[in-house]
Formats: sequence, structure tokens, C-alpha cells
Amino acid sequence: MKRKNIVILGSTGSIGVNALRVIERFPDKFRVVGLTAYNNHRLLEEQSRRFKPSHVAASQEGVRHLRRGIGGGNLKIWDVASGAEEIARLDCADIVVVAMQGSAALKPFLAAVRNGKTVAPANKEAIVMAGDLLMREAARHKASIVPIDSEQSAIFQCLEGRKRADVRKVYLTASGGPLLRVPKTRFDRLSVQDILRHPRWKMGKRITVDSATLINKGFEVIEAKHLFGLEVKDIEVLIHPEAIIHSMVELRDGSVLAQLGVTDMRLPIQYALTYPQRWDTGLPSVNFARLGQLAFEKPDFRKFPSLALAIEAAGEGGTLPGVLNAADEAAVEAYLKNCLKFTEIYDVVEKIVRRHRVVHDPSLDAVLAADQWARGEAAALIN
Ligand SMILES: NC(=O)c1ccc[n+]([C@@H]2O[C@H](COP(=O)([O-])OP(=O)(O)OC[C@H]3O[C@@H](n4cnc5c(N)ncnc54)[C@H](OP(=O)(O)O)[C@@H]3O)[C@@H](O)[C@H]2O)c1
Repeated sequence: MKRKNIVILGSTGSIGVNALRVIERFPDKFRVVGLTAYNNHRLLEEQSRRFKPSHVAASQEGVRHLRRGIGGGNLKIWDVASGAEEIARLDCADIVVVAMQGSAALKPFLAAVRNGKTVAPANKEAIVMAGDLLMREAARHKASIVPIDSEQSAIFQCLEGRKRADVRKVYLTASGGPLLRVPKTRFDRLSVQDILRHPRWKMGKRITVDSATLINKGFEVIEAKHLFGLEVKDIEVLIHPEAIIHSMVELRDGSVLAQLGVTDMRLPIQYALTYPQRWDTGLPSVNFARLGQLAFEKPDFRKFPSLALAIEAAGEGGTLPGVLNAADEAAVEAYLKNCLKFTEIYDVVEKIVRRHRVVHDPSLDAVLAADQWARGEAAALIN
């Protein structure tokens, strides 16, 4: 394989750091050409010294810091607000890893797609907001999308080489998060730190809270709908606490294909970078004998109403999933600052979703307008 030039948008986050760990193992196969961060300019500086990209971006304060520390020479330092898009469309980039958190990833994702890159999204917000648009533009510009999100990667792997018509349904597995066995009456008595202690995955704060409310699984239903052209009714969420099966596909003859593996994001990240080849990850095998058994159960929609709300939004489509995402992003931020109780996250998001007038088949402007509207509503409700 020719040496691939990689851009990582969000290199200082949990996915970004793991992507660099993967890349570091194959110095003759990958070259880092662009990195972006937001506030963590110290880590970005460290990563830049180590991986020597030609382009980096950070917040305005980060830019000032980086210019003092590593400026000069050929390194181009951008303000991330515009620089993420510029870096995503660099001529020399082969693969763009979208590991930024939140809706800020939408424009750079679109820029990568419109420039025919291979895009490896971990970020789900962009697809939730504008899945139709992104998929349409990817087809038009012959961009490939190879997902990193472990469930979407699993479905992608199970679907490889299969006809869409042969697929009967998809099982999207969920570990159940930190509240699976906690009675709902105790939810508001837990501290933010308790909620941030996910039993299986180590992730950024927003996605960890979203895994506790299970809205994250609803976002994944929306993602899978767009990435694989599925009907929402053909996607079933299944609680699987061991998180060893990352998702499954049932074919029309009743055969079920599953992708299994240890719970380490380096596995789907590496596959997105090496696709369609498979290289050694250095990760351990699943120890089936020690696991003993794998369990499954239906999600409890009454205990986790955010999941039901997200599946409803997935079915409606248009601007509604984006509104759901923006309202949730704002509510989770308020929760992390102790301005909302845990169960109030749902209350805020539900109110905003019910108030929204859905625009179907929205343009980028309509998507962004709906996002802004939802944030305004959230701010008013939270205050
Ligand atoms: N972590 C996982 O295992 C996992 C699994 C599946 C999907 N995902 C998805 O992948 C994405 C990243 O998750 P994560 O857990 O890696 O998040 P994270 O640890 O919070 O990292 C987020 C990254 O985005 C940057 N960022 C935040 N706000 C930004 C903004 N407004 N503009 C530009 N950059 C910004 C951060 O920069 P600074 O750190 O420099 O501020 C950081 O590099 C999320 O969409 C998440 O849902 C994550």
C-alpha cells in the first residue's frame, strides 16, 4: 500500500489520540499531514513536534500559543473555526479522520466529502444533522466513507460485499451504559463523576453522558440509517452488556453475521485507515472461555425515554435529528456544569423537539438554522 497522508480533525480527543497511537505503529505506511484541536493546544504542540504535520489548527488562544512555540518554518497554523475546513480539503490528504466533537464537525466533514477524500468519521453529530446531504455529496464526489464508530464499523464489516436487498435487519448493540442496573429513582442522586464512569468504554464527556441516557444509541440509529441506506424499522437496538459483539446484520435467509472484538477503539480506527486490508493491531484476542456467556435484553424505553425520542426523530428525519442533537449538546453541557439535573436533560430535549417545525430535505443553511434555533431554545429553557 502506498504511504497514506492522514488528517485528524480533533487529534487531542479520545478518538484522535487513539488514531495517532495506531498511526505511530506504521511510520512507513502513514504520514500525518494535518491535525486540529480546540483548547488543548499543549497536547497539539506535543503531537505536532512528534508527527510533523504541515498544517495545524486550534482555537484563537491556541494559535497564539502555537505560533510562539512551534511557529516558523513551513508549518501553517490556522484558527480552527475556518482552518478545520481548509485542512479537511488539503490536496495532499488521502484520509480525513473526523474525530472532532459536536456540530462544529459538519462543515469540515462536508469539505472532505466534496473533495473526494476517504472520510473516516467517529463524529456522529454531523451525520445526525445532515446525513442526507453528506451521503448525497459523497456519492456525487466519489468520496468513500469508512466509519470509525464501533457499531457502524461492525455493520460496515458485516455488509461488505453484500447486496442491500439481502439484508433483513440490523441489530445495533448497546452496553447499556452506567445506569443499566440503577433504578431510575436514583438517577438524580448520582454525581456527574458517577455518570462519567462508563463500564466499558473510555470516551469524551458528552458521549459518556449520552451513553448514560442512551440517546447515543438513538444517534447511532440515525447514523446507520444514513450510512447504510436502512429503514429505521429495520434497525433494532439490543442491550448487550459485555460489549463484545459490536453489532449484527441479519440476512434474508435468517443467517446473522456479527462483528466481535475487544472493547478498544483502536480496532475500528485501524480498519478505517487500512480498509480493505487487515493488519495486526497488537490487541489481545477476545477470551471467550473467560467471558463464559454473552447476554442480550431489550432496552427499557420507559427508563430511558431519550432513546425512544431519538428513534422517533430518526423516523421523522429532515431537520428534527439535528434539533435533537443541538438540544442534547446544550443540555449535556448544562448538566456537566451542574446547571441541570440528570433527568432534566431529557425534559429540555423533549420540549425542544416537540416545538420544532420540521423542514424535510433541508439545505445546509436550513440544517444550520435549525441547529441555532434549538440552541437558542435550550438556552432560554435552561436559564
Ligand atoms: N470516544 C469514543 O470512544 C467514541 C466512540 C464513537 C464515537 N465517538 C464520537 O467521536 C467524536 C469525538 O469523541 P471523543 O470521545 O474523542 O471526544 P473528546 O475526547 O471530547 O474530543 C473531542 C475533540 O474535538 C475537539 N473539539 C471540541 N470542540 C471543538 C470545536 N468547537 N471545534 C473544533 N474542535 C473541537 C477537541 O479539542 P480539545 O480537546 O483540544 O479542546 C478534541 O480534539 C464525538 O462525536 C463522539 O460522539 C467517540
